[in-house]
Amino acid sequence: MHQVASYHQALITGASQGLGKAIAEQCARRGMSLILTALPNSGLAQTAIELSHRYGVRSDYMEIDLTEPQAPEMLHRFILSRRLTVSILVNNAGVGYNSRFEDSSLQENERCILLNNLALVKLTHLMLPMLKSQPDGYILNVSSMAAFFPMPFMPVYAPSKAFILNFSLALGEELRATRVSVSALCPNGIRTNEDCVRRIEAGGLAAQWTCMNPEQVAQAAIVGMLRRRAIIIPGVFNQTIFVIGRFAPLPLVYSVISLFWGHFAQRAKAIG
Ligand SMILES: NC(=O)c1ccc[n+]([C@@H]2O[C@H](COP(=O)([O-])OP(=O)(O)OC[C@H]3O[C@@H](n4cnc5c(N)ncnc54)[C@H](OP(=O)(O)O)[C@@H]3O)[C@@H](O)[C@H]2O)c1
Repeated sequence: MHQVASYHQALITGASQGLGKAIAEQCARRGMSLILTALPNSGLAQTAIELSHRYGVRSDYMEIDLTEPQAPEMLHRFILSRRLTVSILVNNAGVGYNSRFEDSSLQENERCILLNNLALVKLTHLMLPMLKSQPDGYILNVSSMAAFFPMPFMPVYAPSKAFILNFSLALGEELRATRVSVSALCPNGIRTNEDCVRRIEAGGLAAQWTCMNPEQVAQAAIVGMLRRRAIIIPGVFNQTIFVIGRFAPLPLVYSVISLFWGHFAQRAKAIG
């Protein structure tokens, strides 16, 4: 294990399943106490109790829909009312879809922007004073490799992740002189929920080679965060794609992504 940081308290959004749950486990096994959030009736209580018993750490939780206008404030008040402290903020909760923009619903797009961006900004703003008051503070924002490319068939999700990446880099620079660092996690496909697994299966060999398990991504995320890396890209193959993508001509990048994701979206729809 890279670093033991048992004095930390981690607030993790979207911790009931998938990557958020795997990140919570990585934190717990390092002895960190947990504050977990997810939607109501998501099995969050069970996750909190299991991790607490398995690793002997304190684990609090709050079920809340972060797209509700007052939700970040309510979560912040919950933390203050229980006299909890937070030294690590993991903004993981996120949603997206994989289809043509004209086939998407306004509600889908609104939810994506509200959760991926507005809730993240609000929660970061509310928690920053507490993070700055800790001996060491960390913010881990879950972006995506989609942040690096305008992605046809993910026309709102990908920009929402680009927002997270740029927000994280800008905030990290503002906080350079403090003890709080900001990391943007940029994973490729992860075998999390059924929808993601179906899309990875439908994506053929390329998608299957580049995808990772939640546990692998969570491990890379926590190690990178504790090393205060500004951008964390899990997996050597994905790091290579990132470098190639930066130097390839943009029209070529768009066509390859369009071909790949268009095919991907159609096949996933057919299978689903
Ligand atoms: N999976 C991938 O291929 C992939 C790739 C790159 C980046 N990412 C990013 O990684 C993060 C986690 O993805 P994942 O695949 O692990 O997702 P997931 O399995 O669908 O889990 C999402 C988590 O967010 C919670 N959540 C959803 N809507 C919420 C809301 N309105 N308010 C509060 N919590 C909410 C869910 O709670 P419930 O359990 O109650 O639904 C769940 O805990 C996301 O930001 C995603 O964009 C994923």
